Amino acid sequence: MTMASPLVSKLPSVGTTIFTKMSALAAEKDAINLSQGFPDFPPDARLLARASTAILTGNNQYSPMTGLPMLRDAIAQLVERHYGRIVSSQDEITVTSGASEAIFDAIAALIRDGDEVVLFDPAYDLYEPAVTLAGGICKRVTLTARDFRPDWQAFASLLTDQTRLVIINTPHNPTGSCWQAADLESLWQAIASHDIYVLSDEVYEFIHFGESAVSVHKHAGLSTRSLVVSSFGKSFHLTGWKVGYIIAPAELTVELRKVHQFVSFCTATPLQQALAEHLLALPDASDELGAFYQQKRDVLRRALADSRFTLLPCDGTYFQLLDYSAISDLDDVAFCEWMVDEIGVAAIPVSVFYQQAPEGQRVIRLCFAKEESTLLEAASRLSGL
Ligand SMILES: Cc1ncc(COP(=O)(O)O)c(C=O)c1O
Repeated sequence: MTMASPLVSKLPSVGTTIFTKMSALAAEKDAINLSQGFPDFPPDARLLARASTAILTGNNQYSPMTGLPMLRDAIAQLVERHYGRIVSSQDEITVTSGASEAIFDAIAALIRDGDEVVLFDPAYDLYEPAVTLAGGICKRVTLTARDFRPDWQAFASLLTDQTRLVIINTPHNPTGSCWQAADLESLWQAIASHDIYVLSDEVYEFIHFGESAVSVHKHAGLSTRSLVVSSFGKSFHLTGWKVGYIIAPAELTVELRKVHQFVSFCTATPLQQALAEHLLALPDASDELGAFYQQKRDVLRRALADSRFTLLPCDGTYFQLLDYSAISDLDDVAFCEWMVDEIGVAAIPVSVFYQQAPEGQRVIRLCFAKEESTLLEAASRLSGL
């Protein structure tokens, strides 16, 4: 019998993610886990009751591949109410197993061998491996230092005849920065005359502070060329349900669904049923989300105000960046490991979101989707450094 040659990895530089590592370390050391982005408080009890009723009353078989019609209708109403955009629940909305599946499907559907995809660095860690698996090549524009703004000249200089897709994310993980309407307009001006699509990751769309968040849904030009991704995990505090959706013009949706039907076919039916009923009963449920998280952000920021950390601005998401240059010369991965040991608080090093992190940047990310008591205890330990 001939032995198979050793397997050559398609993703040689990908290992276990830092989120898994830091959460495991936090559990091992019994530390406060502000690393991975998930709430430590329960979702709305009415939504949980709807899910258990949906299971107990027999909604347990495959749903239609595109998502339960009732949920797609509720999503169409949400998008119209929130953004004033009218989308077809039949032809433009697809329910997926989390935003992650939507992103993966979109990239697999659009990217061919040698196509180029532009990302903004730092970037959510799923984008690049999905592009690589599809045979594409990522080009990264670094967001400007400290305020993490897009540099539109640098962006334009990366576009070539091979550029097929731009991936954007606002409000932004990991930096908590939000784009402005002028940014979307600059993006549109740069790509309008090219065959370039946009994948807009808007999973934190309802978690923004101050002025209303910009969205591709509200941009007349971009919305004709974009796939916009949302996540109920973020909007209803249930990251473990993994239910998301993607909205795109019909001709893009047709291609996206060709991938979706073979990746997952459909998403957990009783969870879709529960979300549909909840959205129809409480259409304004997500309106409160910004104020809810702003209060948590402010508790954390106030409690850290006298610490030796420098707090970077946070306009959206549930992530707060801290610069620790005044405390340590360690690189950010070593600093996070040291912090778990020293004070029992787990955070995420921001360098893991970059292809090439800026020289000397010493910044960590804390997740503040936590009970106030958790935030105050973590802040008291961090203030001792
Ligand atoms: C920017 C961003 N996009 C996508 C996702 C994935 O969302 P989901 O859990 O719905 O797959 C996350 C989750 O953390 C995220 O932060």
